[in-house]
Amino acid sequence: MGKTASTFAKATADKSAATAMTQKDNMPEQNDLMEKIVSLCKRRGFVFPGSEIYGGFANSFDYGPVGVELKNNIKQLWWKRFVHQRSDMTGIDAALIMKPSVWEASGHLKEFSDPLIECTKCHHRFRPDQIPGYEQISVVSKPGEIASFKFSADTVCPNCKTPAMECLNPYQAKKFNLMFKTFIGPSEEQTNVAYFRPETAQAMFVDFKNVLDTARKTVPFGIAQIGKAFRNEITPGNFIFRTREFEQMEIEYFIAPPKTDEDWNKYFEMWRENMLLWIKDDLGIDIKHIHELEVPESDRAFYSKRTIDFEYDFPFGKSELYGLAYRTDYDLSQHQKASGQDLRYMDPQTNEKYLPHVIEPTWGVDRSVLAVLCEFYREEADRVVLASPPRLAPYKAAVFPLLKNKPELVAKAREVYSLLTTHYSLGPIAWDDRGNVGKRYYSQDEIGTPFCITVDFDTIEKDNTVTVRNRDTKEQPRVKIEELQNYISKSLQ
Ligand code: GAP
Repeated sequence: MGKTASTFAKATADKSAATAMTQKDNMPEQNDLMEKIVSLCKRRGFVFPGSEIYGGFANSFDYGPVGVELKNNIKQLWWKRFVHQRSDMTGIDAALIMKPSVWEASGHLKEFSDPLIECTKCHHRFRPDQIPGYEQISVVSKPGEIASFKFSADTVCPNCKTPAMECLNPYQAKKFNLMFKTFIGPSEEQTNVAYFRPETAQAMFVDFKNVLDTARKTVPFGIAQIGKAFRNEITPGNFIFRTREFEQMEIEYFIAPPKTDEDWNKYFEMWRENMLLWIKDDLGIDIKHIHELEVPESDRAFYSKRTIDFEYDFPFGKSELYGLAYRTDYDLSQHQKASGQDLRYMDPQTNEKYLPHVIEPTWGVDRSVLAVLCEFYREEADRVVLASPPRLAPYKAAVFPLLKNKPELVAKAREVYSLLTTHYSLGPIAWDDRGNVGKRYYSQDEIGTPFCITVDFDTIEKDNTVTVRNRDTKEQPRVKIEELQNYISKSLQ
């Protein structure tokens, strides 16, 4: 969440990509891990390559049957923690395509861009940091400024290998806007141009007045949103880490204009702690794998007074997972100016009117999914296990009839399945009657199902109990069917 990130998603993302590239080379076993995760995702239905039957579509991915459950669990836990369990929060779900004036006011139309250098021989375009031997000699610190670069004498075009002196003019670095353009209505005229949102954040500013008028909230309070964002990234990669279409979970937390640094810092710290709690208590990620990067002023968006990136030890290197920024009153004041609407808040106690300032914690959904997969992937002698906390597991349990060709076992197992899904509402439960029980365990372990419930002859002939095989301990106690709900829900806390 550096310069180009919130408004202007670049600095940190670029740095992470660079780190990723170098660390990748040094970490073959970690590289291996990434390959194994990608393969598991495809094999077991977490994430598929997009448009695969047409030969695939670079850097586009589809979440499959278990991936969508994992992703939904993450989003639901987030919404529960940050919206439903807090009286100072409320949510919205805004349009993906907003009026272009929004992006003009926010600065995205002008500034949401990466500088690109084009090789005059092969016409490939590169971000300067993708060209070995580049050196940045000036940085963008204000809107409108253009960065400049130089190259060492032996630099060549990474694509056609022509010496840089002959084909790469650093002063030809052109700004490439990262927003996806489309047209509204049947004719493709300039007046009908619109953009897919590059962040969910702006809708919270644009809807600020409507939320104020309807939600009976007093400052400090926050607006949350989960939804898709689109960026025409120059260098997507590392599986679902950087894609052109992704999901964000964002909060804009509105506070009174601070009189001292302490006035905003206390909310910044509150959100810092909350973000760490989310990582630790909801995702269950070991906090040792998280690194906080205090983004230096030179890399921050020009309006940001403080930015922290939360980085995770991905197999391809330490890279940005989430961000936290103090955006001042930049966005509300831009929208107030551009729309001509009074967006000020009136303090009910003092009748004072002011534009609130904003602390913005932001989370990537797809990066959360990837971090969870990386954190909990385990290889054991005889199996692969996704040992995630049961609350994140795509299926809370799987139900099996011991034998598929015994109608009485199948009927009883169907009864147990419907009890768990309909009556107890435990969340998604898998049904599996293929192969033998050993194979079913293997396949449920790979997708992280915490319990496998088998209906056998003792169930119907003796005591109405089933075996409940535990993913982590492999123990298989017998549990009464009527106690299954408690047995499983205890693990979901
Ligand atoms: N409103 C602030 C903002 O958009 P950002 O750092 O650009 O800040 C927030 O994005 C989060 O969105 C990142 O921390 C990351 O988790 C996720 N994200 C950003 N670009 C992404 C991409 N191309 N693919 C997947 N996730 C991305």
